[in-house]
Amino acid sequence: MVNQKIALVTGGNRGIGLACVRQLAQRGYQTIMGSRDLELGRAARISLGPLGDNIDVIPLDIANRKTIEDARLFVMEQYGRLDILINNAAIHYDSWHNVVQADLEEVALTLDVNLLGPWRMAQAMMPFMLKARSGRVVNVSSEAGSMATMDAAAPGYGVSKAALNALTIKLAAFSREKGVLVNAVCPGWVQTQMGGESAPRSVEEGAASILWAVDLPDDGPSGGFFCDGKPLPW
Ligand SMILES: NC(=O)c1ccc[n+]([C@@H]2O[C@H](COP(=O)([O-])OP(=O)(O)OC[C@H]3O[C@@H](n4cnc5c(N)ncnc54)[C@H](OP(=O)(O)O)[C@@H]3O)[C@@H](O)[C@H]2O)c1
Repeated sequence: MVNQKIALVTGGNRGIGLACVRQLAQRGYQTIMGSRDLELGRAARISLGPLGDNIDVIPLDIANRKTIEDARLFVMEQYGRLDILINNAAIHYDSWHNVVQADLEEVALTLDVNLLGPWRMAQAMMPFMLKARSGRVVNVSSEAGSMATMDAAAPGYGVSKAALNALTIKLAAFSREKGVLVNAVCPGWVQTQMGGESAPRSVEEGAASILWAVDLPDDGPSGGFFCDGKPLPW
């Protein structure tokens, strides 16, 4: 157990996050599934069958500092290390908004979860990696956050993911030469509650795009934006 690598996925109870948990467990990681609702997380673990034996489920709301601190204590007391952080949880693909009339209370909530949530998680969890001089952080982003191709659709979400991309560059620059690789990854357009039924990609394909950045060698890229291992324009 001591030598086993430890991974944490936020929003791991459904959608792409659950597929990441499954693929990490299949690779042999001890995987911590963060779930806002503990019971939903436990049910999701059961759905993974025997793989669930190497999965911990913890209550984790990335908008709530107390649950993040509890998660940090869990990692410290249970394992004393963290090798992988997948910042997957996000909300509000706000296709119902136009930028001029958008409800800014809702936009503020989107920024709180999609930008400050991963930032809080990085502050809580990256010290484990920096201390070990080893680790991978994957910020699950979206092409909707690419400033090179941005249009008017889903303004709150698009701005939140552009800001998450900027955070990725900051974290990567800080961690350079410290053994921790930080990248932003788009899973593609995926069939989930957020992506909707007409999306062409499965959750397994979306998760594979994300796990590419987990599997990077120590001399792999950091501070990049990728889909399926290929660079995307910022
Ligand atoms: N689906 C797509 O086509 C697509 C495309 C590009 C990027 N993405 C990105 O991929 C990631 C996963 O998306 P998805 O499609 O799997 O979304 P989803 O099906 O809507 O699932 C979102 C997950 O995030 C969790 N969550 C929401 N707010 C949270 C909070 N405050 N604290 C902790 N967990 C929270 C949800 O938990 P509950 O079950 O408690 O609500 C759920 O587990 C997101 O970052 C999304 O922006 C998705």
